[in-house]
Amino acid sequence: MIYVKNIFYSEPQIELAEMLVNNSALDQVFFCNSGAEANEAAIKIARKWGINNRNGAFEIIAANNGFHGRTMTTVAATGTPAYREPFGPPTPGFVFVDYDDIKQIMDATSEQTAAIMLEPIQGEGGINVPSLTYLQEVRSWCDDQGILLILDEIQTGMGRSGKLWAYEFAGIEPDIMTSAKGLAGGVPIGAVLAKNSACVLEPGDHGSTFGGNPLATAAGAHVIKRLINDGILENVVARGNQIQQRLEGLQDRHILVSGQRGVGLLRGLELSKNVSVDIVNASRSQGLLLNPVRPNIVRFMPPLTVTEDEIDKAIDIIDSVLQSLND
Ligand SMILES: Cc1ncc(COP(=O)(O)O)c(C=O)c1O
Repeated sequence: MIYVKNIFYSEPQIELAEMLVNNSALDQVFFCNSGAEANEAAIKIARKWGINNRNGAFEIIAANNGFHGRTMTTVAATGTPAYREPFGPPTPGFVFVDYDDIKQIMDATSEQTAAIMLEPIQGEGGINVPSLTYLQEVRSWCDDQGILLILDEIQTGMGRSGKLWAYEFAGIEPDIMTSAKGLAGGVPIGAVLAKNSACVLEPGDHGSTFGGNPLATAAGAHVIKRLINDGILENVVARGNQIQQRLEGLQDRHILVSGQRGVGLLRGLELSKNVSVDIVNASRSQGLLLNPVRPNIVRFMPPLTVTEDEIDKAIDIIDSVLQSLND
């Protein structure tokens, strides 16, 4: 059975919901089918919470260079104008600030503010890892002001950073969190999780025909069990360190490489010229798939089960591509 009408629950759905709640700081889960859909739900929760608890506040502060999806409201929350502007007037209620700058968040907060929505590390924005204290400062600002913190863990979560959730590095807890991408190992799924204090949705407020279907949630339950029990997080840390060392080695040998950044298996190679597309194209012809997230940043997101030999092979390919571009 891969589908059951969503007024019923299925055992895999409960199993995955319990595993997510038991392995995160959040209390309740709503399942959907993609990251954008999870963020839509997070935004609806924050808006309803603001209406109920903060005199109708509805604004959400988001970050420049952030990415939250491709639906009309998630592009409105996405701090890259090129994703928004071709589609006419965006959903109102989003205010943008520079990432990793708590002062700008403070200045942008008003009586209209319901929530702050951030990625713990900006992925599409170029693997921007914030300073260690940033999320802690944002958390305490939210507590001071009585507003919600929404963390988009769609790219950083499910072990990608070496921890199950990237917010764990900061030792803080979000009020709302979204997950998708690797959550069911490639089977389409999304999830929004919230603390009880933020759970304002009532029956009839929200829904999704395929959300929480038994196929996707069984896949998700399997993935999260393997992540926790099969040493996969340890592999992410070890292979992430290996990539870091090998990328640092490339920096010593190639003038085109200006640095590297990232955590776990979410890594970026920084280039001194805007040649990321050339590197990605040349690597593809040698069998290595990469992503030119910015003109001068190449992103690495290998499978969490990648082996030591595979990483060595991948970096050897990049090494030879850089060599040919230098010549
Ligand atoms: C941080 C983040 N949020 C949201 C999304 C959107 O997810 P989806 O493509 O599943 O809608 C993405 C996709 O790249 C993402 O990286």
